[in-house]
Amino acid sequence: MTDIAALQSEILADIQGAGDEPALEAVRLAALGKKGSVSALLATLGTLSPEDRKTAGPLFNGLKDAVAQAIGARKAQLADAALDARLAAETVDVSLPSAPLNSGTVHPISQVLEEITAIFADLGFAVAEGPDVEFDDYNFTKLNIPPDHPARQMQDTFYVAPQPGDQGAAHVLRTHTSPVQVRAMLAAGKPPIRVISPGRTYRVDSDATHSPMFHQVEALVVDEGIHLGHLKWTVEEFCKAFFEIDRIELRARPSFFPFTEPSLEWDMRCDRSVRGQIKFGTGNDWLELGGSGMVHRKVLENCGFDSTRYTGFAFGFGLDRMAMLKYGIPDIRSFFESDLRWLKHYGFAALDIPTLDGGLSR
Ligand code: FA5
Repeated sequence: MTDIAALQSEILADIQGAGDEPALEAVRLAALGKKGSVSALLATLGTLSPEDRKTAGPLFNGLKDAVAQAIGARKAQLADAALDARLAAETVDVSLPSAPLNSGTVHPISQVLEEITAIFADLGFAVAEGPDVEFDDYNFTKLNIPPDHPARQMQDTFYVAPQPGDQGAAHVLRTHTSPVQVRAMLAAGKPPIRVISPGRTYRVDSDATHSPMFHQVEALVVDEGIHLGHLKWTVEEFCKAFFEIDRIELRARPSFFPFTEPSLEWDMRCDRSVRGQIKFGTGNDWLELGGSGMVHRKVLENCGFDSTRYTGFAFGFGLDRMAMLKYGIPDIRSFFESDLRWLKHYGFAALDIPTLDGGLSR
């Protein structure tokens, strides 16, 4: 008869000798598998006499249990050892500097756009929008610049080739944000209107202070009794808030725009005597802000408004120029060159942008 004790100590030695889980599994199969030594022994129980079975049964089963228990214990030991080895290999050095975070920045134009929107929101203005590809009718005709009118030459226009579905309506890349005046009036149907419209505009133009694609912010107020004093006050308040100074001096020059009468251009007193620096409120220099005026009677009528009852003012300022002045950016073209070093230098952290509710955007 098989020497149970010898077999058990042989198997237990193999179990202790198994250096990893696959080796341990091989020992388990050799003992407890279908063709394993312990299974073979158990299979002989049926051939024994009832007497012998009585003594052999508990011995064989004891062997089986001892082997199974030893395998379980060794398995846990091996798992612990593997975990210890992994922990030792994967030590984290908390004193190492972290990998640099390459976060983006907010483009100065986006920043200025948000600042302007927030300032006008405080003054009770809503934001109106219009498309970049605009009807020739809204960009010019409804603004009192009919076809063949010489004023069309004031702005060098990108004309858009006719597209299927245009139904004969000519399109342009809008040369200014003033067509949004038309859209705002047509959409509202009746006064009061108090909107601003910041956005992209396009002209055939390119040098250090002119870009073929640039930005303007339009303002439009229409109601009963609106007069030039309202225009002056709004421009003043806006400039004070935007340039973050209490004392400014504005100068209005007579100008001409077909869609306003009278028309005025606004300048702000500044000091540019120190190269690369600009101070507002003092000095003998003037900074051009943009055009404005009282909405022309014909424009009100073109949009279905009673011009004997309602009056309005509008202005359109160059947003890129304002950003250049506020943040000391010398060349307008750099805004649109997507140079990452430039963006890192002039860009803003996302947290710096004020939101309309007075909080900070993320
Ligand atoms: C206009 O575009 C009028 N729509 C403004 C207006 C609105 C008048 C409402 C009356 C009532 P103007 O062509 O002057 O006006 O342009 C306004 C401002 O846009 C300029 O003062 C300038 O700051 C900016 N601007 C014009 N062309 C460019 C350009 N190519 N690049 C950058 N800024 C420009």
